Amino acid sequence: VPGLCFLLSLSGAITQKPKATCPPCPPNASCVNGTYCTCDPGYVSESGQKFFTFPLEICTDINECKPPFSIYCGPNGECQNVEGSFYCRCVPGYKLLSGDVEFKSSSENTCQNVTPSNKGKKELQQIVDQFEMLLTNKTLWEMGKKQEVSSTATSILQNMESNILATALKAPGQKVQKVQNSTMAIETRVVTDNCSEEKKTFHLHTQMNSMDIHCNDIVQGNIQGPSAVAFVSYSSLGNIINASFFEEMDEKDRIYLNSQVVSAAVGPKRNVSLSNFVTLSFQHVKMNPRNKKSFCVYWKSTEQGSHWSRDGCFMIHMNKSHTICNSSHLSSFAVLMAFTYQEDDSVLTTITYVGLSLSLLCLLLAALTFLLCKPIQNTSTSLHLQLSICLFLAHLLFLTAIDQTESKVLCAIIAGALHYLYLASFTWMLLEGLHLFLTARNLTVVNYSNMNRLMKWLMFPVGYGIPAVIVAVSVASRPHLYGTPDRCWLHLDQGFIWGFLGPVCAIFCVNLVFFLSVLWILKRKLSSLNSEVSTIQNTRMLTLKATAQLFILGCTWCLGIFQVGPAAQVMAYFFTIINSLQGFFIFLVYCLLSQQVQKQYHKWFREIMKLKSESETHTLSSKVSPDSKPTEVGDIFPGQVKEKF
Ligand SMILES: *[C@@H]1O[C@H](CO)[C@@H](O)[C@H](O)[C@H]1NC(C)=O
Ligand SMILES: *[C@@H]1O[C@H](CO)[C@@H](O)[C@H](O)[C@H]1NC(C)=O
Ligand SMILES: *[C@@H]1O[C@H](CO)[C@@H](O)[C@H](O)[C@H]1NC(C)=O
Ligand SMILES: *[C@@H]1O[C@H](CO)[C@@H](O)[C@H](O)[C@H]1NC(C)=O
Ligand SMILES: *[C@@H]1O[C@H](CO)[C@@H](O)[C@H](O)[C@H]1NC(C)=O
Ligand SMILES: *[C@@H]1O[C@H](CO)[C@@H](O)[C@H](O)[C@H]1NC(C)=O
Ligand SMILES: *[C@@H]1O[C@H](CO)[C@@H](O)[C@H](O)[C@H]1NC(C)=O
Ligand SMILES: *[C@@H]1O[C@H](CO)[C@@H](O)[C@H](O)[C@H]1NC(C)=O
Ligand SMILES: *[C@@H]1O[C@H](CO)[C@@H](O)[C@H](O)[C@H]1NC(C)=O
Repeated sequence: VPGLCFLLSLSGAITQKPKATCPPCPPNASCVNGTYCTCDPGYVSESGQKFFTFPLEICTDINECKPPFSIYCGPNGECQNVEGSFYCRCVPGYKLLSGDVEFKSSSENTCQNVTPSNKGKKELQQIVDQFEMLLTNKTLWEMGKKQEVSSTATSILQNMESNILATALKAPGQKVQKVQNSTMAIETRVVTDNCSEEKKTFHLHTQMNSMDIHCNDIVQGNIQGPSAVAFVSYSSLGNIINASFFEEMDEKDRIYLNSQVVSAAVGPKRNVSLSNFVTLSFQHVKMNPRNKKSFCVYWKSTEQGSHWSRDGCFMIHMNKSHTICNSSHLSSFAVLMAFTYQEDDSVLTTITYVGLSLSLLCLLLAALTFLLCKPIQNTSTSLHLQLSICLFLAHLLFLTAIDQTESKVLCAIIAGALHYLYLASFTWMLLEGLHLFLTARNLTVVNYSNMNRLMKWLMFPVGYGIPAVIVAVSVASRPHLYGTPDRCWLHLDQGFIWGFLGPVCAIFCVNLVFFLSVLWILKRKLSSLNSEVSTIQNTRMLTLKATAQLFILGCTWCLGIFQVGPAAQVMAYFFTIINSLQGFFIFLVYCLLSQQVQKQYHKWFREIMKLKSESETHTLSSKVSPDSKPTEVGDIFPGQVKEKF
């Protein structure tokens, strides 16, 4: 047989290759230098010779997986020999991260445990199903009592979090797990390294929402084993723990939940306070919300039940479809939206802005007049001045900051400042009433100047002190009722608004009594004596003006009370228009219609004209007559309007 083979191969070699020099090589061998045969890579000759010419030499496969080679494929990897070669593969139950089957060496080993992760996925699915059962269990939710509903929701949410985290930590090999169903979607992620990369964040995404969390906040110093983060979106839980669980809810706020409820949790260290903000992105349920405001809230659990709260959560960006929030702690989160009819009504908004701007201008002019117009300065004008300043500041704050509701603390401070400034305006009005009353009463009393001095002394402590006391008491009793979700003003529930309306109504009534008695005193005086008529008339005029002012300012806020019920819309218009006109009214009555002030205006005007004409004559050196009288110019003031009321 060997002889026959030799002859056959010889003949084959001769027929294939006419090159006589190369010997016929056996299978799995090739010719080198045209003189020798050598086994192919992965084969070895049975004789052990590397180069040979004997054509019956046999090249056999080398088993690289057995000694002496014993290729190492890394953990959970095994070597697999094939003809002329070998490869590595993962042991059963493990898989390459890439999904491939073969790899070449231990350096390419990424074998992952797949069996437990399938188990993990199944467990997660079980959690989802269990949740679905809880959600549809009517007996759980139809207890009626809000407090119980909120406690049930809290315990379910907390159970969910711990179960999901436990499941994720059981299969640390599976870095990312996702499960989704109609009621909830879960994504978990396991972190095994110790966040050596600075500023590394993880992005988790479920259905419509996503979360970015800093690696350090997941690991929380736990370097012994893996840590996990879970992000869960609940699509229908918001129907149960809806906006009526908002802690700042009151009847006039129309608030609704405009996102899914999401939960974020880390483990095994369950510290919820974070060193960096966690950023949450919510897709709105209702697109294109009409109002421009949304609140990021979290589910705060307390002894007395749970509710949505804004502490530590704030909105950083919002557009038609998304709201993005930052939070300093982990919990369950959602986005609330609020809108009021005022915001719906662009006409009302325009009136407010135009009217208040006009008011601000008028108040500024009035304040400047009271301050600079020397001839009219007396106790009465200094009272007007303080009133104008308070109203100016109040309106300015109202215009610029009434809707700065993003930060709860800032909003509460704004509400407190507004409360103080408006109250101070009213206190100064009360002082005006008191001043008029004393003036009238003291027309006959000798120590008038004494009274006047007392008034001057008491003015500032009373005018700025009383509102401060009222605000301080309000702050001390219920600080959380400063600032509502849609505007920085006092809350309407628990009668808190009476901290403002109460003093206003009281001042209104007291002033009314003052004015009526002043008029009565003056009437009696007028009939009894005919001297001092001018003083009496003057005082009467002031009283009438002050009464008008009282109605303009006082009634406005009384109208504010009626902004509920069927006539709310009309009342809102009245309120806004009259409120906006307060500044204009003060300027009109005390400056434009006052003869003394008019005279002063004329004087200033003349001076300005003189300066102007002087400078003109200087610069142009023309023949403009220097005594051009600007008397006619005075007609632009309604000076001819007689001080008649
Ligand atoms: C080695 O030889 C055998 C038998 O002729 C053949 O089946 C096999 O394909 C050869 N191997 C290689 C790598 O060429
Ligand atoms: C084949 O030829 C090369 C160069 O011509 C030489 O370096 C080598 O040693 C030769 N191999 C053998 C087995 O003779
Ligand atoms: C619903 O919840 C109640 C109270 O936990 C429980 O007793 C009942 O078995 C649940 N029903 C279903 C259908 O799961
Ligand atoms: C939830 O998922 C499970 C398993 O994937 C499926 O059998 C069930 O029908 C799903 N439920 C809903 C409401 O989609
Ligand atoms: C984190 O890992 C790196 C590299 O593995 C190591 O040098 C460092 O000491 C570790 N840090 C901590 C806090 O364990
Ligand atoms: C909240 O849910 C309760 C009970 O399901 C419902 O009566 C109420 O109208 C809801 N409130 C809001 C603001 O959606
Ligand atoms: C929780 O984390 C915060 C911030 O990282 C840290 O200040 C606080 O001490 C931690 N609390 C506990 C109980 O570990
Ligand atoms: C929100 O959080 C992210 C991540 O911590 C941070 O980079 C960003 O500055 C925060 N934005 C604001 C407005 O605080
Ligand atoms: C709204 O903001 C989100 C997140 O920043 C962005 O993905 C989306 O494209 C924005 N949509 C519009 C209509 O601007």
